[in-house]
Amino acid sequence: MQRAIVTGGAGFIGSHIVDELIKMGVQVTIIDDFSTGKVENVNPAAYCWKQDLATVNIDDLTQFMEHVDTVFHLAALARVQPSIEQPIPYHDANVTGTHNLLVAASDAGVKRFIFSSSSSVYGDAKVPTSEDHVLNPISPYALHKLIGEQYCKLFSTLYDIDTVSLRYFNVYGDRMALDGAYRLAIPIFATQIKEGKPCTINNDGNQKRDYTYVGDVVKANIMCAKSLKEFKGDVYNVGNGDNVSVNELVDMMGGEKSYGNKVIEPFETLACNAKIDLDLDWKPEGDLKKWINKYMEQFNG
Ligand SMILES: NC(=O)c1ccc[n+]([C@@H]2O[C@H](COP(=O)([O-])OP(=O)(O)OC[C@H]3O[C@@H](n4cnc5c(N)ncnc54)[C@H](O)[C@@H]3O)[C@@H](O)[C@H]2O)c1
Repeated sequence: MQRAIVTGGAGFIGSHIVDELIKMGVQVTIIDDFSTGKVENVNPAAYCWKQDLATVNIDDLTQFMEHVDTVFHLAALARVQPSIEQPIPYHDANVTGTHNLLVAASDAGVKRFIFSSSSSVYGDAKVPTSEDHVLNPISPYALHKLIGEQYCKLFSTLYDIDTVSLRYFNVYGDRMALDGAYRLAIPIFATQIKEGKPCTINNDGNQKRDYTYVGDVVKANIMCAKSLKEFKGDVYNVGNGDNVSVNELVDMMGGEKSYGNKVIEPFETLACNAKIDLDLDWKPEGDLKKWINKYMEQFNG
């Protein structure tokens, strides 16, 4: 791998992938429209093109990708609940954006395309969930991710491009969004605790999530990029392989609880990582409790 594009490289997970690639000596270009991404996340050693992938000119994009060997596609409007309220911009960013990128990448002769998918494609699934579980998206966002995976597979079948989709479970780590409409649960609870307010928990708080460390997600992407295996639309779970309830998470953070908001969401997520372990020897190393302790210290300090 010599030249890579990271879409969404100004976002939470994408910026960590950029940092790792730069450390490895890879020439990195970011494509990001900064709709949720931040200038301060951008590694100054990377070239950055501010561009919306849903409205990009395909010829420009194709030309831009010449001599690129690997694409890490993270750009997306990445939240479940807002996709229910605003399905059209979510579809544009997540489906049209992915399709445009795949067309340009195959036309430009990109070798490998690594797509950031999501455990949300499973819906309410039996746990631990393996990749061959029935897929049942229950939000526009989840369906967009499934369409992205299937486009990847189709492009590998029709054109000469390797594609692989990584189904991340809930990702945590430094640079998680602290503000804006799309904040994740951990920063929301941290803010509420700091302000002396109870943590507002959706549903009854017994829903369990497989919280996955961002460093492990970066590692999975890099392993896919470097692997000698051919990927023809393969999919892999990327989870921690254990889970905690939202109530337990709030206890870990030392917060009071309040309930009331009813939302449609899977009851439990838990990854079976056997496939990625077998094929790529990937193993998670994240320690949620340890990270939360450090995060709360920094947040309150
Ligand atoms: N964070 C998680 O827990 C999680 C879980 C599963 C999957 N994912 C996937 O991982 C990827 C990264 O997620 P994240 O948490 O870092 O989100 P994020 O919002 O921090 O990053 C997404 C980035 O994409 C950019 N973007 C959005 N629409 C764009 C468009 N049309 N054109 C160009 N850039 C655009 C945003 O500005 C942002 O920088 C997403 O594809 C998301 O669906 C994330």
